[in-house]
Amino acid sequence: MSVEITATAAASGANATERFRSDKSVAAEVGTERVNALATRAIKALADTVMEEEVTYDEYNALKSWLIRVGEDGEWPLFLDVWIEHAVEEVANADREGSKGTIEGPYYVPGSPVLATPATLPMRDDEPGTPLLFQGRVTDINGEPIGGAQVEIWHADDLGFYSQFAPGIPEWNLRGTVIADSEGDYRINTVQPAPYQIPTDGACGELIASAGWHAWRPAHLHLKVSAPGHQLITTQLYFTADEHLSDDIASAVKPELVLQPEDKADGTGREVSYDFVLASAG
Ligand code: DHB
Ligand code: FE
Repeated sequence: MSVEITATAAASGANATERFRSDKSVAAEVGTERVNALATRAIKALADTVMEEEVTYDEYNALKSWLIRVGEDGEWPLFLDVWIEHAVEEVANADREGSKGTIEGPYYVPGSPVLATPATLPMRDDEPGTPLLFQGRVTDINGEPIGGAQVEIWHADDLGFYSQFAPGIPEWNLRGTVIADSEGDYRINTVQPAPYQIPTDGACGELIASAGWHAWRPAHLHLKVSAPGHQLITTQLYFTADEHLSDDIASAVKPELVLQPEDKADGTGREVSYDFVLASAG
C-alpha cells in the first residue's frame, strides 16, 4: 500500500494543543498558597541551574528563543507529556492497588467507537503491520471478574503514527472502546504498533538533537480501563525485546507493563494476554 504521510511537528503539535484545550478542564483552580509554593520552587530550580552552571547570556537567549518556538510549534503538550508527566503519574498513583498505570501522553481522544467483544479495531482495508490479538480479563482486586468493564485502546500504526494527529489516516483508526463480556473477558484484534519517534522537526526535536539524545519511545498500546465503582486506570503496554524499553524518552516504561506476544497457532499473526485489576473507587 502507499500511505501518503507527511507528519510534521507543527501539525501534530497544533492538533495536540487543540485536543488538550477542548478535552481537559483547564479551569481547575489552584490556590494561591500552592501556586506560590510550586512557582517559587520551580523558578528557584532554574535560577540555581543558571548559577551553578554559570549560564552565559548566549545560552540564556538560546533558551528564550527555544521556549518561544515550543509555543509556536504547539509543542507544549508534547514537551510536558514526554519529560514531566511520568513524575505526575508516579505521585498520583503512588498508593494505588491493582494494575500499574503510566502516562496518558498527548494523543488520547475520548469518544472512540464502542465495540462489543470480540472486537476488531477500526482499520484500513490494507492496514500495514503484524496482526495482534490482544485479550484478557478485567477483575477487581479480589480477582472477581468485572462484567461489562470498558477497555479503551488507542495506539500508533505500523509506521508509528496516530490517527487524528498525523495526516492521511482515517478518523478513529486503531482506536476503540471495547466492552468486556459478562465474565470481564475482552478480545481485541488489531495490529502491532511500531516504535514511536516524537516529532523531530519542531522545537522538541531541536532540543533532542542539540543535546545528543534520541527521540524514541518503545512501541506501545495505550489503554484506559474502567468500570462503575472502580478507579479508572490509564496505562500503556509494551513489547518484550524492544530496544527502547530501557531508554524510553518519556520515562514511562514499568517492568509490569511489558507483554510477551507469541505466534498464533494458525499462523495469522501474534497474540498476547493481559489481565487488568481495578481498585475500588474511594
Ligand atoms: C508522546 C507521544 C506518545 O505516543 C506518548 O505515549 C507519550 C508522549 C509525545 O510525543 O509527547
Ligand atoms: Fe503513545
